[in-house]
Amino acid sequence: MKSTITIERLRVMKREGEKIASLTAYDAGFARILNQAGVEMLLVGDSLGMVLHGEQNTLRVTVDEMVYHTRQVARGSGSSFVLADMPFMSYATPGQAMANAGRLVGEGGAHMVKLEGAAWLCDTVEQLSTRGIPVCAHLGLTPQWVNKFSGYRVQGRTPEAARVILADARSLESAGAEMLVLESVPAALAQQITGAVTMPVIGIGAGLDCDGQVLVLHDLLGITEHAPRASRNFMEGVGDIRSAVQAYVRAVKERTFPGPENSFT
Ligand code: KIV
Repeated sequence: MKSTITIERLRVMKREGEKIASLTAYDAGFARILNQAGVEMLLVGDSLGMVLHGEQNTLRVTVDEMVYHTRQVARGSGSSFVLADMPFMSYATPGQAMANAGRLVGEGGAHMVKLEGAAWLCDTVEQLSTRGIPVCAHLGLTPQWVNKFSGYRVQGRTPEAARVILADARSLESAGAEMLVLESVPAALAQQITGAVTMPVIGIGAGLDCDGQVLVLHDLLGITEHAPRASRNFMEGVGDIRSAVQAYVRAVKERTFPGPENSFT
C-alpha cells in the first residue's frame, strides 16, 4: 500500500529534488486511476467549468459545484493529496474565504485550498492558515483574471512584472501559503521563484525547474479541442487512459516533460 501524501511529504520531495506529479480530477473514478498511476496530488480545478460544463472560462463555477466535485474526488483519491480550487469571487473578502474554504475542507474533504491572486491575498491566507486551512497560492496567468488580463496571456515577461511576481510569491509564503501554482510564466522566472521559496512550486507552462508539474486531465487525454501550449497529449501512441497517466508521471519524474515546446521565454 502506498503511503499517504501530506504537505510534509511534498516538502520533503522538494528538498530531495523528487518531482511532484499532479493532475486535475473531477470525479471518483478518475481520482482512483490517477492515484493508482502514482499522481501525488489531485487538483479539483475550477477548470471543470470549461472541460466538464463547456463554458468559455471558469467564472461561472460555484462553491456548491466545487464542493460536489471535491467530495467525489476525495472518495476516490486513496493516498493522493487533494487540493481544491476556490471559485471566482468566493474569497473576495477574508470572511467569504473562511466560510467557503471551510466547506471545501469540511464537506468536500480537500486537504488544501487554492486561491488565485497576488499579495492582496496575504490577510486572507494568514487567516485561513491560522485557523487550520492550508493554502496554495496561484500566480502568473490566473484564469479567473481573464477579463483583467484581456485574454490568456503569458505573465512576467518584463523585468518589472517578473520582480512583482517574485515579491508576491515571497509575501504569500510569509503570510502562510504552503504551496504555489505558477502558470504560464517564463521558465527562467519560474526557476528563480522555485529557488527563492521553501514551499513546493507546481508549474503549468512554467518550465522544467519547478518542484512539480500539473496539467488539466482533459488536455493530457486529448479530449480538449484546442489544448494550450503548456500541455501534451499523452494518449498518443498508448491507447488507454491508465498508460497515458503513467507515461505523464514518468515524464514528470524523469524531467522529459515539459519540453521547450511547452514552455515560455
Ligand atoms: O483549474 C485548474 O485546472 C487550474 C490549473 C490550470 C492549474 O487551476
